[in-house]
Amino acid sequence: MRKTVFIRTFGCQMNDYDSRRIADLLEATHGLRRVERPEEAGLLLLNTCSIREKAQEKLFSELGRFRELQEADKSVVSGVGGCVASQEGEAIFARAPYVNLVFGPQTLHRVPELLQRTLTERRQAIDISFPEIEKFDRLPDPRVDGPAAFLSVMEGCSKYCSYCVVPYTRGEEYSRPFDDVLAEAVHLARHGVRELTLLGQNVNAYRGRTHTGRIADLAALLHYLAAIDGLERLRFTTSHPVEFSPRLVDAYRTVPELAGQLHLPVQSGSDRILGAMKRGHTVADYLQLVAALRQARPELSLSTDLIVGFPGETEQDFAATLALVEQVRFDNAFSFIFSARPGTPAADLPDPVPQAEKLQRLERLQRRIREFADDYSRRMVGTTQRVLVTGNARRNPRELSGCTENNRVINFAGPLALIGEFVAVEVTTALANTLRGRLSSQLEHAC
Ligand code: SAH
Ligand code: SF4
Ligand code: F3S
Repeated sequence: MRKTVFIRTFGCQMNDYDSRRIADLLEATHGLRRVERPEEAGLLLLNTCSIREKAQEKLFSELGRFRELQEADKSVVSGVGGCVASQEGEAIFARAPYVNLVFGPQTLHRVPELLQRTLTERRQAIDISFPEIEKFDRLPDPRVDGPAAFLSVMEGCSKYCSYCVVPYTRGEEYSRPFDDVLAEAVHLARHGVRELTLLGQNVNAYRGRTHTGRIADLAALLHYLAAIDGLERLRFTTSHPVEFSPRLVDAYRTVPELAGQLHLPVQSGSDRILGAMKRGHTVADYLQLVAALRQARPELSLSTDLIVGFPGETEQDFAATLALVEQVRFDNAFSFIFSARPGTPAADLPDPVPQAEKLQRLERLQRRIREFADDYSRRMVGTTQRVLVTGNARRNPRELSGCTENNRVINFAGPLALIGEFVAVEVTTALANTLRGRLSSQLEHAC
């Protein structure tokens, strides 16, 4: 087998983080170098997502490409991991017999063993169990590429929203020990990371055990991380409105390193639908939380996730979602049509609303969201933003690209030496998905 690995990732940032860690691990155990093109790889891996049907469908179209490469070169090995693997297990081998290994989100640390088994015994290998979390203990230090990094602080989800597969694919909530998280953060900071995003499907439910046996929450973790030299900007995602404690709200007042941007999914503006989704909160609870957050950090930029066409959603329920969007004025939002996921309670609910009507609702919602997002970007024109320079601009490698506090990409001219630094950039133009700006001389004021 060639000593190279190609990993294609679908899904959330946690999957992205997992893929990086698999690459780190395979480099340590098998000396595999990660490559960007599948044609160059000895090992082909797919890290899959099953959150909506569309995401799941991508698996088999992508596997078709793997098959061609495996037929052309018999030494090429392929594997499927992630949330679809967790749900489908052996069924993946049945549908795609050329796949050599299957692993789940909680067994990615065992990929080297599975690979070894496949190579030596020449048979398919599978492990989609949920071992008492050991995966983080078995991974080498993460490789750092660039000044912004992710760090998974907890795994799984125990909320069981009625439409969602995550608790079944990733298992119950488990928080990584507090000291392990700090050690990984220190490692990242030492290697040039300046902005850290803490990850978890319910990251605000974090409760990590410390070396003294006490339990530390996310607010405590943020305070400790903020004290690490080099870490100058912190984010966390994704939060659930229910466990957003007053201590965590207060962190927006007391931890200046905490970016003034928060992704806080609400899913629907109708209490009836929120109840059917088993979200555990009302619209009023959500609005109260938003008010408290905005009091703690007046310039806080808020984004959200919304589901349109949940079974039984009436025009009135949908109007309530639109009204909520108007009221909160989200700076950005991701909206999806409900997708019935096998094995979830909502998949069995009667759903009389025709798909065409759902699509219309989605379009109406997305139009409004787009207007708010554009308006927000336009209001940034003329302001000076604190920007972390992350690398070259994608379209024009002679320009720099960076990220504002509210998570907008901004491109501007400047010397390469600034990559990895925080600089002040005046926003000059708001484009559809990015901003343009120029380096500002008022560095000290803004930073
Ligand atoms: N843990 C996070 C996000 C989970 S997945 C949270 O609870 O907020 C990301 C988003 O996908 C969700 O917020 C939801 O809006 C969407 N989603 C999840 N399951 C879905 C389904 N069955 N159909 C449509 N959208 C879904
Ligand atoms: Fe899914 Fe709900 Fe858990 Fe989010 S909180 S991952 S939507 S079950
Ligand atoms: Fe998808 Fe699994 Fe993430 S279903 S969104 S990859 S947790």
